[in-house]
Amino acid sequence: MTTPSTADLPRVIDTVASWQRDGAPVQVHPGDLGWYQRFGAEALAGALREWARDGETVAVGFLDESELIRMAIAPEAGGDEGIAHHVADDFVEALGELLPPGRAIVEARFGTALQQVLTDRGWGADDPWTPLHRDLAQPVPPSTLRIEVVGPGLVQERVRVEVAAFPGSSFSVDRWRQMADGHAYRHAACLLGYDEQGVAVAATTVWSAGRDRPGVIEPLGVHGGHRGRGHGRAMTLAAAGQMRRMGCSSARVATPSSNTAAVATYQAAGFVTPGEVTDFCRP
Ligand SMILES: CC(C)(COP(=O)(O)OP(=O)(O)OC[C@H]1O[C@@H](n2cnc3c(N)ncnc32)[C@H](O)[C@@H]1OP(=O)(O)O)[C@@H](O)C(=O)NCCC(=O)NCCS
Repeated sequence: MTTPSTADLPRVIDTVASWQRDGAPVQVHPGDLGWYQRFGAEALAGALREWARDGETVAVGFLDESELIRMAIAPEAGGDEGIAHHVADDFVEALGELLPPGRAIVEARFGTALQQVLTDRGWGADDPWTPLHRDLAQPVPPSTLRIEVVGPGLVQERVRVEVAAFPGSSFSVDRWRQMADGHAYRHAACLLGYDEQGVAVAATTVWSAGRDRPGVIEPLGVHGGHRGRGHGRAMTLAAAGQMRRMGCSSARVATPSSNTAAVATYQAAGFVTPGEVTDFCRP
Protein backbone atom coordinates (compact mmCIF):
# COMPACT_ATOMS: atom_id res chain seq x y z
CA MET A 1 0.00 0.00 0.00
CA THR A 2 1.40 3.41 -0.95
CA THR A 3 0.35 7.03 -0.61
CA PRO A 4 0.51 8.96 -3.89
CA SER A 5 2.22 12.32 -4.19
CA THR A 6 0.49 15.36 -5.65
CA ALA A 7 2.32 14.63 -8.93
CA ASP A 8 0.56 11.24 -9.01
CA LEU A 9 -2.94 12.70 -8.72
CA PRO A 10 -3.71 12.91 -12.48
CA ARG A 11 -2.68 9.27 -12.92
CA VAL A 12 -4.74 8.06 -9.93
CA ILE A 13 -7.78 10.10 -10.99
CA ASP A 14 -7.55 8.78 -14.58
CA THR A 15 -7.22 5.23 -13.26
CA VAL A 16 -10.32 5.56 -11.09
CA ALA A 17 -12.13 7.10 -14.09
CA SER A 18 -11.29 4.08 -16.23
CA TRP A 19 -12.95 1.77 -13.67
CA GLN A 20 -16.41 3.42 -13.89
CA ARG A 21 -18.94 1.11 -15.50
CA ASP A 22 -22.67 1.25 -16.09
CA GLY A 23 -24.34 -1.74 -14.51
CA ALA A 24 -21.68 -2.10 -11.82
CA PRO A 25 -22.26 -0.73 -8.32
CA VAL A 26 -21.30 2.90 -7.76
CA GLN A 27 -17.78 3.14 -6.39
CA VAL A 28 -15.40 6.02 -5.76
CA HIS A 29 -15.59 8.31 -8.80
CA PRO A 30 -13.19 11.02 -10.04
CA GLY A 31 -15.90 13.44 -8.93
CA ASP A 32 -15.54 12.35 -5.31
CA LEU A 33 -11.81 13.02 -5.52
CA GLY A 34 -12.34 16.26 -7.42
CA TRP A 35 -14.81 17.58 -4.86
CA TYR A 36 -12.36 16.71 -2.04
CA GLN A 37 -9.67 18.68 -3.86
CA ARG A 38 -11.32 21.86 -2.59
CA PHE A 39 -9.09 21.21 0.45
CA GLY A 40 -6.02 21.32 -1.83
CA ALA A 41 -3.90 18.87 -3.77
CA GLU A 42 -1.77 17.96 -0.73
CA ALA A 43 -4.86 17.08 1.27
CA LEU A 44 -6.25 14.94 -1.53
CA ALA A 45 -2.99 13.05 -2.08
CA GLY A 46 -2.70 12.52 1.68
CA ALA A 47 -6.20 11.04 1.76
CA LEU A 48 -5.45 8.42 -0.90
CA ARG A 49 -3.94 4.94 -0.66
CA GLU A 50 -3.04 2.73 -3.62
CA TRP A 51 -2.65 -1.02 -3.91
CA ALA A 52 -0.75 -2.39 -6.93
CA ARG A 53 -0.03 -5.80 -8.43
CA ASP A 54 2.73 -6.24 -10.99
CA GLY A 55 3.10 -2.48 -11.19
CA GLU A 56 -0.61 -1.97 -12.02
CA THR A 57 -2.91 -0.16 -9.61
CA VAL A 58 -5.72 -2.54 -8.63
CA ALA A 59 -7.38 -0.68 -5.75
CA VAL A 60 -7.59 2.87 -4.43
CA GLY A 61 -8.74 3.84 -0.95
CA PHE A 62 -10.01 7.32 -0.21
CA LEU A 63 -10.19 8.64 3.37
CA ASP A 64 -13.22 10.84 2.87
CA GLU A 65 -13.71 11.47 6.58
CA SER A 66 -11.61 10.58 9.56
CA GLU A 67 -13.51 7.32 10.16
CA LEU A 68 -14.38 6.35 6.58
CA ILE A 69 -12.39 4.72 3.80
CA ARG A 70 -14.11 4.53 0.43
CA MET A 71 -12.80 1.93 -1.98
CA ALA A 72 -12.47 1.78 -5.76
CA ILE A 73 -11.37 -1.53 -7.23
CA ALA A 74 -10.33 -2.38 -10.79
CA PRO A 75 -13.20 -4.24 -12.53
CA GLU A 76 -11.02 -7.27 -13.26
CA ALA A 77 -9.84 -7.41 -9.62
CA GLY A 78 -13.27 -7.40 -7.98
CA GLY A 79 -13.28 -11.16 -7.38
CA ASP A 80 -9.58 -11.52 -6.54
CA GLU A 81 -9.26 -12.98 -3.03
CA GLY A 82 -5.53 -12.31 -2.80
CA ILE A 83 -6.01 -8.61 -3.33
CA ALA A 84 -9.02 -8.61 -0.98
CA HIS A 85 -7.01 -10.18 1.87
CA HIS A 86 -4.14 -7.81 1.26
CA VAL A 87 -6.44 -4.77 1.41
CA ALA A 88 -8.26 -6.08 4.49
CA ASP A 89 -4.93 -6.82 6.25
CA ASP A 90 -3.88 -3.23 5.61
CA PHE A 91 -7.13 -1.97 7.11
CA VAL A 92 -6.32 -3.84 10.32
CA GLU A 93 -2.60 -3.09 10.50
CA ALA A 94 -1.27 -0.22 8.43
CA LEU A 95 -4.53 1.67 8.55
CA GLY A 96 -4.59 1.59 12.35
CA GLU A 97 -3.22 5.11 12.31
CA LEU A 98 -5.80 6.16 9.69
CA LEU A 99 -8.87 4.62 11.25
CA PRO A 100 -8.25 5.27 14.93
CA PRO A 101 -9.79 3.09 17.64
CA GLY A 102 -13.55 3.37 17.71
CA ARG A 103 -15.89 3.67 14.79
CA ALA A 104 -14.38 2.72 11.43
CA ILE A 105 -16.26 2.36 8.20
CA VAL A 106 -15.24 0.91 4.85
CA GLU A 107 -17.32 1.67 1.76
CA ALA A 108 -16.79 -1.30 -0.55
CA ARG A 109 -19.74 -1.32 -2.94
CA PHE A 110 -17.89 -3.15 -5.69
CA GLY A 111 -15.68 -6.20 -5.24
CA THR A 112 -17.31 -9.39 -4.03
CA ALA A 113 -13.99 -10.72 -2.71
CA LEU A 114 -13.33 -7.76 -0.41
CA GLN A 115 -16.95 -7.78 0.73
CA GLN A 116 -16.65 -11.47 1.63
CA VAL A 117 -13.34 -11.04 3.44
CA LEU A 118 -14.69 -8.15 5.52
CA THR A 119 -17.84 -10.13 6.33
CA ASP A 120 -15.74 -13.18 7.32
CA ARG A 121 -13.69 -10.96 9.61
CA GLY A 122 -16.79 -9.78 11.41
CA TRP A 123 -17.30 -6.35 9.81
CA GLY A 124 -21.04 -5.59 10.05
CA ALA A 125 -23.50 -3.43 8.17
CA ASP A 126 -23.52 0.34 8.73
CA ASP A 127 -26.39 2.75 7.98
CA PRO A 128 -28.12 2.27 4.60
CA TRP A 129 -27.39 4.41 1.56
CA THR A 130 -29.50 4.75 -1.58
CA PRO A 131 -27.59 4.77 -4.88
CA LEU A 132 -29.56 6.24 -7.79
CA HIS A 133 -28.97 6.60 -11.50
CA ARG A 134 -30.61 8.01 -14.61
CA ASP A 135 -29.81 6.71 -18.05
CA LEU A 136 -28.75 9.49 -20.42
CA ALA A 137 -29.36 7.78 -23.77
CA GLN A 138 -32.46 9.95 -24.30
CA PRO A 139 -32.62 13.74 -23.99
CA VAL A 140 -33.38 15.08 -20.50
CA PRO A 141 -36.44 17.35 -20.09
CA PRO A 142 -35.51 21.04 -19.67
CA SER A 143 -35.15 22.52 -16.20
CA THR A 144 -37.73 25.01 -14.98
CA LEU A 145 -34.87 27.08 -13.50
CA ARG A 146 -32.66 29.36 -15.57
CA ILE A 147 -29.29 27.62 -15.51
CA GLU A 148 -25.86 29.26 -15.63
CA VAL A 149 -22.57 27.39 -15.86
CA VAL A 150 -20.28 28.84 -13.20
CA GLY A 151 -17.26 30.73 -14.52
CA PRO A 152 -14.99 33.07 -12.56
CA GLY A 153 -17.69 35.75 -12.26
CA LEU A 154 -20.20 33.46 -10.53
CA VAL A 155 -17.97 31.73 -8.01
CA GLN A 156 -19.12 33.86 -5.07
CA GLU A 157 -22.75 33.11 -5.91
CA ARG A 158 -21.95 29.39 -6.21
CA VAL A 159 -20.35 29.45 -2.76
CA ARG A 160 -23.21 31.45 -1.25
CA VAL A 161 -25.83 28.92 -2.42
CA GLU A 162 -23.71 25.98 -1.24
CA VAL A 163 -23.43 27.40 2.27
CA ALA A 164 -27.16 28.20 2.33
CA ALA A 165 -27.97 24.61 1.28
CA PHE A 166 -25.52 22.78 3.54
CA PRO A 167 -25.40 24.40 7.00
CA GLY A 168 -21.88 24.19 8.42
CA SER A 169 -20.30 23.93 4.97
CA SER A 170 -16.74 25.25 4.85
CA PHE A 171 -16.91 25.93 1.10
CA SER A 172 -15.30 29.23 0.10
CA VAL A 173 -14.02 31.04 -2.98
CA ASP A 174 -10.49 29.82 -2.23
CA ARG A 175 -11.73 26.25 -1.90
CA TRP A 176 -13.65 26.55 -5.17
CA ARG A 177 -10.41 27.68 -6.87
CA GLN A 178 -8.44 24.76 -5.43
CA MET A 179 -11.15 22.40 -6.68
CA ALA A 180 -11.25 24.04 -10.11
CA ASP A 181 -7.45 23.77 -10.37
CA GLY A 182 -7.66 20.00 -9.87
CA HIS A 183 -7.23 17.39 -12.58
CA ALA A 184 -10.76 15.98 -12.15
CA TYR A 185 -12.38 19.38 -12.67
CA ARG A 186 -11.24 19.40 -16.30
CA HIS A 187 -14.28 17.18 -16.83
CA ALA A 188 -16.68 18.91 -14.45
CA ALA A 189 -19.04 21.86 -14.28
CA CYS A 190 -20.69 23.87 -11.54
CA LEU A 191 -24.25 24.98 -12.28
CA LEU A 192 -26.39 27.64 -10.64
CA GLY A 193 -30.18 27.66 -10.90
CA TYR A 194 -32.09 30.98 -10.85
CA ASP A 195 -35.80 31.28 -10.05
CA GLU A 196 -38.27 33.52 -11.88
CA GLN A 197 -37.20 36.46 -9.69
CA GLY A 198 -33.62 36.03 -10.85
CA VAL A 199 -32.46 34.73 -7.45
CA ALA A 200 -29.83 31.97 -7.35
CA VAL A 201 -31.66 29.25 -5.40
CA ALA A 202 -29.88 25.98 -6.25
CA ALA A 203 -26.41 24.76 -7.14
CA THR A 204 -24.62 21.60 -8.13
CA THR A 205 -21.31 20.28 -9.39
CA VAL A 206 -21.34 17.46 -11.94
CA TRP A 207 -18.39 15.30 -12.89
CA SER A 208 -17.65 13.15 -15.92
CA ALA A 209 -15.35 10.12 -15.91
CA GLY A 210 -14.95 10.41 -19.68
CA ARG A 211 -17.17 9.69 -22.67
CA ASP A 212 -19.67 6.83 -22.35
CA ARG A 213 -18.97 6.33 -18.68
CA PRO A 214 -21.23 7.22 -15.75
CA GLY A 215 -20.98 10.74 -14.38
CA VAL A 216 -21.73 11.76 -10.83
CA ILE A 217 -23.49 14.59 -9.00
CA GLU A 218 -21.41 15.81 -6.06
CA PRO A 219 -22.98 17.82 -4.46
CA LEU A 220 -26.46 19.26 -5.16
CA GLY A 221 -28.38 21.59 -2.89
CA VAL A 222 -31.24 24.08 -2.76
CA HIS A 223 -30.97 27.23 -0.63
CA GLY A 224 -32.65 26.55 2.72
CA GLY A 225 -35.11 29.41 2.20
CA HIS A 226 -36.31 28.21 -1.21
CA ARG A 227 -37.17 24.54 -0.74
CA GLY A 228 -40.36 22.65 -1.51
CA ARG A 229 -41.00 24.54 -4.78
CA GLY A 230 -39.63 22.02 -7.24
CA HIS A 231 -36.16 23.60 -7.46
CA GLY A 232 -34.41 20.42 -6.28
CA ARG A 233 -36.04 18.41 -9.05
CA ALA A 234 -35.29 21.18 -11.58
CA MET A 235 -31.64 21.38 -10.52
CA THR A 236 -31.30 17.60 -10.75
CA LEU A 237 -32.70 17.66 -14.30
CA ALA A 238 -30.22 20.42 -15.17
CA ALA A 239 -27.39 18.34 -13.71
CA ALA A 240 -28.44 15.31 -15.76
CA GLY A 241 -28.76 17.42 -18.93
CA GLN A 242 -25.29 18.88 -18.38
CA MET A 243 -23.81 15.40 -17.90
CA ARG A 244 -25.46 14.24 -21.12
CA ARG A 245 -23.85 17.18 -22.97
CA MET A 246 -20.52 16.17 -21.41
CA GLY A 247 -20.87 12.69 -22.94
CA CYS A 248 -21.72 10.72 -19.78
CA SER A 249 -23.65 7.50 -20.34
CA SER A 250 -25.63 7.90 -17.12
CA ALA A 251 -25.96 10.20 -14.14
CA ARG A 252 -25.26 8.76 -10.71
CA VAL A 253 -25.59 9.87 -7.15
CA ALA A 254 -25.73 8.22 -3.73
CA THR A 255 -27.26 9.65 -0.59
CA PRO A 256 -27.87 8.32 2.92
CA SER A 257 -31.32 6.69 2.89
CA SER A 258 -32.16 8.83 5.92
CA ASN A 259 -32.02 11.89 3.60
CA THR A 260 -35.56 11.24 2.43
CA ALA A 261 -35.83 14.65 0.76
CA ALA A 262 -32.81 13.90 -1.43
CA VAL A 263 -34.00 10.41 -2.37
CA ALA A 264 -37.45 11.80 -3.27
CA THR A 265 -35.90 14.63 -5.26
CA TYR A 266 -33.69 12.39 -7.37
CA GLN A 267 -36.59 10.01 -7.99
CA ALA A 268 -38.80 12.95 -8.99
CA ALA A 269 -36.12 13.76 -11.62
CA GLY A 270 -36.30 10.27 -13.10
CA PHE A 271 -33.52 8.59 -11.15
CA VAL A 272 -34.07 4.97 -10.14
CA THR A 273 -32.41 2.90 -7.46
CA PRO A 274 -31.37 -0.76 -7.58
CA GLY A 275 -31.92 -0.86 -3.80
CA GLU A 276 -30.15 0.20 -0.63
CA VAL A 277 -26.52 -0.60 0.12
CA THR A 278 -24.63 -0.57 3.40
CA ASP A 279 -21.03 0.18 4.24
CA PHE A 280 -18.92 -2.10 6.44
CA CYS A 281 -18.51 -1.19 10.09
CA ARG A 282 -15.50 -2.45 12.09
CA PRO A 283 -16.46 -5.07 14.68
C1 LIG B 1 -32.79 17.58 -1.21
C2 LIG B 1 -33.11 19.00 -1.67
C3 LIG B 1 -32.18 19.37 -2.81
C4 LIG B 1 -34.57 19.05 -2.16
O1 LIG B 1 -34.83 20.37 -2.68
P1 LIG B 1 -36.31 20.92 -2.86
O2 LIG B 1 -36.23 22.13 -3.72
O3 LIG B 1 -36.97 21.08 -1.55
O4 LIG B 1 -37.00 19.70 -3.64
P2 LIG B 1 -38.30 19.76 -4.59
O5 LIG B 1 -39.23 20.83 -4.10
O6 LIG B 1 -37.86 19.81 -6.00
O7 LIG B 1 -38.95 18.33 -4.29
C5 LIG B 1 -38.63 17.24 -5.07
C6 LIG B 1 -39.36 16.02 -4.53
O8 LIG B 1 -38.88 15.69 -3.23
C7 LIG B 1 -39.96 15.70 -2.30
N1 LIG B 1 -39.45 16.26 -1.06
C8 LIG B 1 -38.81 17.44 -0.90
N2 LIG B 1 -38.50 17.62 0.40
C9 LIG B 1 -38.96 16.53 1.05
C10 LIG B 1 -38.92 16.13 2.41
N3 LIG B 1 -38.36 16.90 3.36
N4 LIG B 1 -39.45 14.92 2.74
C11 LIG B 1 -40.00 14.13 1.79
N5 LIG B 1 -40.07 14.48 0.47
C12 LIG B 1 -39.56 15.65 0.12
C13 LIG B 1 -41.02 16.58 -2.91
O9 LIG B 1 -42.30 16.24 -2.45
C14 LIG B 1 -40.86 16.25 -4.38
O10 LIG B 1 -41.44 15.00 -4.67
P3 LIG B 1 -42.67 14.87 -5.72
O11 LIG B 1 -42.21 15.54 -6.98
O12 LIG B 1 -42.84 13.39 -5.84
O13 LIG B 1 -43.79 15.58 -5.04
C15 LIG B 1 -32.97 20.03 -0.50
O14 LIG B 1 -33.74 19.56 0.59
C16 LIG B 1 -31.55 20.26 -0.05
O15 LIG B 1 -30.83 21.08 -0.62
N6 LIG B 1 -31.13 19.55 1.03
C17 LIG B 1 -29.79 19.75 1.62
C18 LIG B 1 -28.70 19.28 0.69
C19 LIG B 1 -28.83 17.81 0.34
O16 LIG B 1 -29.12 16.96 1.16
N7 LIG B 1 -28.59 17.51 -0.96
C20 LIG B 1 -28.72 16.17 -1.50
C21 LIG B 1 -27.56 15.29 -1.26
S1 LIG B 1 -26.10 15.86 -2.10
